[in-house]
Amino acid sequence: MTDQTRLPLGGMSAETFLRDYWQKKPLLIRGAFPDFQSPLEPDELAGLACEDNVEARLVELEGPDKAWQVSHGPFDDETFARLGRKDWSLLVQAVDHYVPDVAELLEHFTFIPRWRLDDIMASFAPPGGNVGAHVDNYDVFLLQASGQRRWQLGDVMSEDAPIIDGIDLRILADFQVIRDQDWVLEPGDMLYLPPRVAHHGISQSEDCMTFSVGFRAPSMDEMVTSWADYLGEQLEESSRYHDPDLEASSDSALINDVTLARVREQMLAALDNPEQMAQWFGRTMTQVKYPDQLMPPATLASEDTLTRALEEGDLLEPAPGSRLAWHPQGERATLFVDGDGHACSPALARRLTGNRILDQEILLLEGAGALLVTLINCGSLRWVDEDEDLDDDDEFADD
Ligand code: SIN
Ligand code: CO
Repeated sequence: MTDQTRLPLGGMSAETFLRDYWQKKPLLIRGAFPDFQSPLEPDELAGLACEDNVEARLVELEGPDKAWQVSHGPFDDETFARLGRKDWSLLVQAVDHYVPDVAELLEHFTFIPRWRLDDIMASFAPPGGNVGAHVDNYDVFLLQASGQRRWQLGDVMSEDAPIIDGIDLRILADFQVIRDQDWVLEPGDMLYLPPRVAHHGISQSEDCMTFSVGFRAPSMDEMVTSWADYLGEQLEESSRYHDPDLEASSDSALINDVTLARVREQMLAALDNPEQMAQWFGRTMTQVKYPDQLMPPATLASEDTLTRALEEGDLLEPAPGSRLAWHPQGERATLFVDGDGHACSPALARRLTGNRILDQEILLLEGAGALLVTLINCGSLRWVDEDEDLDDDDEFADD
């Protein structure tokens, strides 16, 4: 059972939400976060959009060159200075990696596996700002952080739904709002959308900020390719197509059904490897969104320095953007961190993926010291508070 008090589901249980809505139909949750105060100011968001390595987009209904113009960050003062008081949106990905108070929101979404999470995108829009009617391939929770946004929903759209030609965005050419699926969201309200539901969100009469808590699902194309690559590396060179049951044939060019049945049987036998599949899936689903953001420490840790620091009261936490998961296998477990697998005890795996803050008590668990050193030295764990504060840029300050 999930802790109901932290659930942003308006009193609905996680079980009901997952059974009736998740991946099935939209849900509007009024007051999902009662008395919500945005943990992010518009000028902080603008500051982030000016930083290198932060993924940011600007969508202008009437851009300097064309309608629906999309520009990519990093932006600068000049960009913000030319924007008017309406009809544009600034969208910044992975704000949870940069703003701990935004990352905190994720603690309310633990009823969905963490390895399904993509990121929290934040968007700022003055009145009229929007990105057009569109579909996304992922599940998303759209949390109104400040101001109001009107959301209109349409049907679930197929891959070949017509889109407007010749613009930077994939805007639906034919968007029909479903009657009753048209709401103005206030701060703290949240809208859940399953994949491919057409939606259109327009900032109302004041500046608006929306957080998109996005969950990812790899495409079958990615899964099949990645699984075959992983498995291919594990297979012996000597493991080959074999046909000791070969029968004489009058046509030496023929690929007959017996051959194809043999190929299928051998391929399926090689692919059906649950143990390796667990190893592959854990590694794949914990790959980081931005590999460049994993920063190994300037001075590498050793078990001695680690033990001393923890005993002195220092605390460890996953680096922002680090992805952790685990899988039990009998008495042992694999801990997956940022695309790697580490054999350890189930107790250690559970502890490392549970409470985010780690103190010296973790050293009581078998194998903890060596594993923590590995994770610190590849940048997946870091000491609490070693990060610098973000610069307070003031791009949106009133003149
Ligand atoms: C936005 O925040 O402006 C758009 C979010 C979305 O529709 O996915
Ligand atoms: Co969308």
